[in-house]
Amino acid sequence: MNKTIKLLEPILQWVESHRAPEYWPQMPQMVNELVEKHRIIEQLDINDIPHLQETYTRNAIEIDRLKPFEMVLTRWNKDDFSVIHGHPAFLIYYPLSGSYDMDFYDIGKNGQVQFTHRKILQAKDYIFHLGNIGKYDNCIHQIFAREPAVTLHIYSEDAKLGLKYA
Ligand SMILES: [Fe+2]
Repeated sequence: MNKTIKLLEPILQWVESHRAPEYWPQMPQMVNELVEKHRIIEQLDINDIPHLQETYTRNAIEIDRLKPFEMVLTRWNKDDFSVIHGHPAFLIYYPLSGSYDMDFYDIGKNGQVQFTHRKILQAKDYIFHLGNIGKYDNCIHQIFAREPAVTLHIYSEDAKLGLKYA
C-alpha cells in the first residue's frame, strides 16, 4: 500500500490544502488533472491494494492528515456491490479501472428511496456531488462492480456518516 500512497501524494497534498467549501467546486477537475499529470492510472498496481475475497474493501488513506475529509481507495471484486446509501455534502467518485453500474435514487413523497436512473462508468468517468452540509442523504446511489477494479473516493466528512437504505 505504501507504493500506492506515494502515487496518490499529489492528490493528498492538494486536498489537504483545499478542504474549505469554497474550493469544492474546483476539486473534481483538479483531481482529474492530477490523475492525468502523474499518470496514476497507468502506474497503479492493483496487487498493492489490500482486499478481501468476500466483498469490496475500503482502504482509508492518511486519515488524520485529511480530517474532516476522507480519502478512500476501494478495491472491488467482480460482482461486488454496495447497499443503497447517501453521503456527506461533497464527494468525488473516481474510477481508476474497471466498469461499474451506478444506480441513482431520490427520496420520494412517501419517504422511501425511488430509482431515478443508471449510469455506466469506466476508468476516468468520475462523478461528483455538491450537496447540503450537515445532511447525509446526498447523492443516494448503489454501485455494482462488473470486473475486479479500483476506485478513488474523496468525501468532505467520514463516509460512514452517510445514510444506508435497505
Ligand atoms: Fe457512494
